[in-house]
Amino acid sequence: MYIPFARKYRPKFFREVVGQEVPVRVLKNAVRTGRVSHAYLFAGPRGVGKTTVARILAKALNCLRPSEGEPCGECENCKEIDRGSFPDLVEMDAASNRGIDDIRALKEAVSYTPIKGSHKVYIIDEAHMLTKEAFNALLKTLEEPPPRTVFILCTTEYEKIIPTILSRCQRLMFSRIQEGKIVEYLKMICERENIEFEEKALRMIASASEGCMRDAASLLDQASLAGDGKVNEKIVEESLGIISKDKVRSFLKLILDSKVDEAVSFLRDLYEKGYNLTKFWESLEEEVRNAVLFRSLKSPERFVEEAEAYKGFSEYPLEALLYAENLITRGKVEARSRPPLRAFELALVKSLIVKEIVPISKLAFGVKEEKKQSTEERIMSMVSPIAKKAIEGAEKKEEEGKTVFLIDEDTYKAVEEELKKVMNNVPGVEFRAVKKKLPRDTTSLF
Ligand SMILES: Nc1ncnc2c1ncn2[C@@H]1O[C@H](COP(=O)(O)OP(=O)(O)O)[C@@H](O)[C@H]1O
Ligand SMILES: [Mg+2]
Ligand SMILES: [Zn+2]
Repeated sequence: MYIPFARKYRPKFFREVVGQEVPVRVLKNAVRTGRVSHAYLFAGPRGVGKTTVARILAKALNCLRPSEGEPCGECENCKEIDRGSFPDLVEMDAASNRGIDDIRALKEAVSYTPIKGSHKVYIIDEAHMLTKEAFNALLKTLEEPPPRTVFILCTTEYEKIIPTILSRCQRLMFSRIQEGKIVEYLKMICERENIEFEEKALRMIASASEGCMRDAASLLDQASLAGDGKVNEKIVEESLGIISKDKVRSFLKLILDSKVDEAVSFLRDLYEKGYNLTKFWESLEEEVRNAVLFRSLKSPERFVEEAEAYKGFSEYPLEALLYAENLITRGKVEARSRPPLRAFELALVKSLIVKEIVPISKLAFGVKEEKKQSTEERIMSMVSPIAKKAIEGAEKKEEEGKTVFLIDEDTYKAVEEELKKVMNNVPGVEFRAVKKKLPRDTTSLF
């Protein structure tokens, strides 16, 4: 039987949980020192380890040979909990059990003491969905908690939990998992599953999963099935409809360069291949925001992930990037009231003028456009009129990346000091004294 990665690689010990350092440390210490609360509230986005950690806690509390707050994983109780057949662990989903039975179960919970283990553990998932009656029943229970009973309320919507419940629970916050950590975790799965992978493809998956480990694992699952044991950029693109950030950034450059035709045909192509345009536009939004940050911050590496990737945007005026950001955001808004393809195409048409955008600094200080001086202009600005004339009249050739001016001996001697000064100050320039050539018409006599 095929077990999906998300289930197969669910951490079984506190030490295997990725991220979530604070809740894990707090719980491990509580178990180790025997100071476990009667009620916990695990709050955080979906798929980041709330249920996983709750089960590990249940295991650690009931393990026959725990060590340093960790369950042993080997004893009968640990094994039963892993298998999901332990009588003293009750999992309830408040989203699907909203009826009267649900409340009865909760009320009855109070009267039972653990059958087999040392602690009865109730995991109530999506606790914010509990009905009012269930909440009240729960509240009563929490007011006079039965001995050796632990309630773990999990929720993705912390603000919907009523204050009276909140105040009776120890609250632990679970956060999104960092992209880098997700990539490491996916790598671990690939290695164990003998999946041939491209790191870049794993990064694409990690980024698409937005900090949700469950999504990351199941995206990897799908990709490796589609790729027949191989996961690379192309497979991820085609099987998951995820477009690499590199491609999104190239697309952004088309907008900044006002290459509307190319941009529109890229978009149409995605559409025809069945990609989700809205998702694509979302990542475009993220890339333009990063580019703006990169362009405007002094030390962007502190705030922008993979900052080097945005170097290519430093040549665009900030104003152009901000304009692009604006048209992309508007495109998204427009896409709510009309087909996304239309909305996005229109947004792209607006990019026709991006190239014309002039930085405010240039407008404010007049037309004193600071053109970069060419090397020759620079040399000329350094020397006297005589030397200038000599240089202008000299033959010029390129030699090993240097510009060599061949100046006739006599003239060279006259302005030698000046020429040396230039050579010392302007890289890539050399003046060389040469013997005077015979005048042209003389040569033609031969
Ligand atoms: N912090 C984590 N470390 C490792 N794997 C995780 C983590 N969080 C989630 N997972 C993976 O995602 C799956 C679902 O996690 P789960 O604990 O049910 O999430 P939640 O209850 O927060 O929605 C797990 O089976 C596991 O494969
Ligand atoms: Mg859960
Ligand atoms: Zn054990």
